[in-house]
Order: sequence, then structure tokens, then C-alpha cells
Amino acid sequence: MNSPFNSPLWNALEEHYKSISQLHLRDLFHSDPQRFTKFSICWNEFLFDYSKNRLTEKTLSLLFQLANEINLSENIEKMFSGQKINLTENRSVLHIALRNRSGQPIYVDGHNVMDEVKKVLEKMKNFSLDIRSQQWRGYSGKPIKYIVNIGIGGSDLGPRMVCRALTPYGHKEIKVHFVSNIDGTDLAEVLKAVELDQTLFIVSSKTFTTKETLTNAQTARKKLIEYFGGETKAVEKHFVAVSTNEKAVKDFGINPINMFEFWDWVGGRFSLWSAIGLSIVLYIGMENFEELLYGAYLADEHFRNTPFEKNIPVIMALLGFWYGNFFGAETYGIFPYDQYLELLPNYLQQLYMESNGKRINKEGKLIHYQTGPILWGNPGTNGQHSFFQLLHQGTHLVPSDFIAPIETHNPLDNHHLILLSNFFAQTEALMKGKTEEEVKEEMEKANLSADEIKRLLPHRSFPGNRPSNSILITKITPKTLGSLIAFYEHSIFVQGLLWNINSFDQWGVELGKQLATKIEKELASGSLVSEHDCSTKGLIEHYLRESRV
Ligand code: F6P
Repeated sequence: MNSPFNSPLWNALEEHYKSISQLHLRDLFHSDPQRFTKFSICWNEFLFDYSKNRLTEKTLSLLFQLANEINLSENIEKMFSGQKINLTENRSVLHIALRNRSGQPIYVDGHNVMDEVKKVLEKMKNFSLDIRSQQWRGYSGKPIKYIVNIGIGGSDLGPRMVCRALTPYGHKEIKVHFVSNIDGTDLAEVLKAVELDQTLFIVSSKTFTTKETLTNAQTARKKLIEYFGGETKAVEKHFVAVSTNEKAVKDFGINPINMFEFWDWVGGRFSLWSAIGLSIVLYIGMENFEELLYGAYLADEHFRNTPFEKNIPVIMALLGFWYGNFFGAETYGIFPYDQYLELLPNYLQQLYMESNGKRINKEGKLIHYQTGPILWGNPGTNGQHSFFQLLHQGTHLVPSDFIAPIETHNPLDNHHLILLSNFFAQTEALMKGKTEEEVKEEMEKANLSADEIKRLLPHRSFPGNRPSNSILITKITPKTLGSLIAFYEHSIFVQGLLWNINSFDQWGVELGKQLATKIEKELASGSLVSEHDCSTKGLIEHYLRESRV
């Protein structure tokens, strides 16, 4: 099947949607006291409750049939066995190999990649022991207290999010910083926060050609050499690299001994499990990093071996597809009720939008149905006091994931209890809404006049019927975080299959990069040489005039 749109199941789902769209979740819950039991899954430290979704058993049955029709199981095996499923780049997609704990080999071009995976993990372990035990010293003999990861996109968002999420596991005397933006402010502010003689810079770039990363790294290198009075030898004590491109690392001036390798079969946005996770390892230690990998491995096994009916990432994917392609939902909300998970929405934004933001199918044809959603979010309860108004009473349908730990790392008075009360209340409110009768009764009790009640009634009632998943996790630990991230990765993979697109390339980021390179030359020389539209030309000319003032 080249397009899900051509499948008779698409028509069946469309027909089914017509009846579902008339049903209210309130009534579905009312008519079936078993709804929660039917539509929730307990797995390890997770409770995945998807009962507050606009579906019935028939919906799921049709969606599972569609999953079978796209040969989901066979496609999962293709990924796990190293087949080159990234068709436009002719690459395997093997982030699962980075956390493979099965002891089984995984082959790419007849070569078992597990040997090199283990070798690099060993190198990361030894290096982290040296740094964390203060064996490794800076050029002036001081121990390393500041880690600065310089990278962008997949070489930044994953480690940044994980380090933040696992703060309670962080080394008490090591601070970790991230520099990604080419805006000099990013690096300048981090340089103010560190002592250069106690800083290790990790230059993280899969290609080692990314302009932002290399510029930031060059500037940091210059600052370090200046700090040490022109001693270029200081660089080898304060700079390491993570990359697939040894030559470029060497050309930059980093000794390949201080390079941590990964491979082209690891996509940038799926790379936190590779040496790109070096900043994580230095911060939380190798044992905790291994736990993160183990958690992801458990989720991989669940994804690979569990029937679709009990398979968390498969169900997550099918629900996203259901809302996007039948309800016309264009966005997807991620609301972690845990401050440590505050960067999860940013991280997932790249994962979803770079993977499935595609309009051409695997056969190179233009697609006429909606693909990847616009993903956004913020931690609860902050979101409740800003954008939740739109979720409750606006005109958009925003399916969303609410994520919360049962146990907090910071049991301050009754904070966690209040936090979780809000977590439960929001999904219930979104689902139930508030009928005009309920609002009327409330206002009558408050002794409002009949006229006032009539006037306010439409404003104060809530339609409800707004879907959400609730993901309750015993505690945010390296292991549970690993599982959670892997669930999202696999859900994205399944959605890519449903839409018949390649989730593993990202050609869409190239055009802007090419144009910026041309314009940079024009800004530096002060004159326009290439053709621009009159808006871009006007903006550049204005900049050139004003920046000379
Ligand atoms: O521009 C997008 C992108 O290619 C991402 O896919 C990637 O994660 C990021 O840039 C960084 O790339 P690199 O690790 O090669 O510097």
C-alpha cells in the first residue's frame, strides 16, 4: 500500500469518524464503567491511560487493521535488523542498537555494529571516571568543574533535556552548560558562568560541518587560548569532540584520541543514546547512563514484541493519526507535570517535526493528507494559567499527553499533592466540560439574577469532549526517562509508516542554510551580489545602512 489514503480502511475510518464525532466522552464513560480498564495499559513503572480519547473498540479495531495493512510488524523488524529504511540517504536507522542489551548482534552491511557500540561506551565510561574522580586535570592542573556542550539540534536538545530531567542524579560539583545558538549571547553568557581553567568543552556535531557549532567552538577555543596566554597546547586538556567525521575533528585541532565516535546510522535527533550523550555521562555518571539505555531497551522490546492491542507506542501513534487525519487536529500538546521535564516539549518538537514534517511520500509523490503535527507544550501547572483557556473553550481540538510522576524528587510540604490534583483535574475537565445546566445551577446558588445568568451562561460553560492521554510514571529516574523517550521515538516511526513518508531525513533544513551562507558574505562585504526579492533586499540594505551608524 503506497498511500493509506487508497486503503478501503481509510474510507471505513472516515465513515466511522462520522458516528464518533457525534459522541461525547462523558456519555462514553457513563455507558461503560469498564472504559478505564479497557483503555489503559500498566507496563513496568508506567500507567498509560488513553480512555479519555474519542474512540470506541470499533475505532481501535479499524486502526489496528490499518497497522496490519501497512505491515507494521515487518517494518519494525526491518528497523531492528538494520535494513536501510532511510531511503533518501540509503542508511540504516539503528538508535536501538545503541541501547541493545540483548547480547544479540545487529548487522549493517554484514558488519556487527555492537562491537563498536560497546567500544565507544567503554571509552565514555573511562573518560567519565577520569573527569568525575578528578584524575583528568585542566591545563593548569585544576579539576574539571564545568562541562560545556557545544552543539545544536539533535546534538544539543537530547543531552540538554536529559541533564535537566535527571538533575537529582547530577554530580554535585560538576555544572553542565549547553551552547547552541549562533547568537553570541548564548556563548558569552555561558563563558561568564564558568572558570575556563576548570572547563571541558565537548564539541558535539554528527557532521562537524554545522556552522553554528563550529563558530561557537572556534570562539570558545580562541577564548581558552587567550586565557592561557596563547598556549595552544591547553586545547587538548579542555576540548573533546563527538562526531562521525574524524577528518573534520582533526582539522579543527582536536586530537582524534579525544574524539568519541558515532555512526551515520544514528540520526541526529535520535543520538542522545550515542556518544552525543557524553555530557549526560559526565554529569550523571556511567551507571545512570546505562540505566537510561536500559529503560529505552525495555521500551524497544515492548514495542517489538507486544501485540498492538497492548503496545503503548503503537497506540500513541494510532491516536495521533486518528486526530490528525480524521478530526483535522493540526497540533499536539505535551504537558509534563514535572519541572525537571520542562525541556521535554522542546526536545520532542525536533523529534516529531523534523521526522514527520514531510509532504512527499516514499515514492516521491506529493501527499494530499495531513502528516506530522505541530508539537508544542509547557510544564503544568504553568500552562494552565496561560494557554489552557484555548484548550478548554477555544475552537481548536488539541489532543495532548499529560505526563506526571507519582513520586517527586522534592517532597516539599503538600506541593506534589496539589500538582497531581491539577494533573487529574485538567484531563477530567477537558473530557467532561461543564454543561449549561451545571453552570446555571452554580449561578443560581450564587444568587445571580435571571438576566445575568442568561447573559453569562454561554461564556461560562465548557463543551468538554477534548481528548488527552495520561502517562503516570512511578518516578522520573534514568530508567523510566529512557523508556518514555523511546516510546515517543517509536510512535513517530509508526506514524511515518502510516503516512508512507521517510521519517529519517531532513532535507527541509537545507535551503535556509544555503541562503544564509550567501547572505553572510554579502553582510561581511557590505554589498549585495546575489538576487533577492525586494523585501529581503530592503531588509538587508536597511541593516547595512543602520549597522554602520
Ligand atoms: O539542521 C538540522 C540538523 O541537521 C539536525 O538534523 C541535526 O540534529 C543538527 O542539524 C545538528 O547537526 P550536527 O550534529 O551534524 O551538527
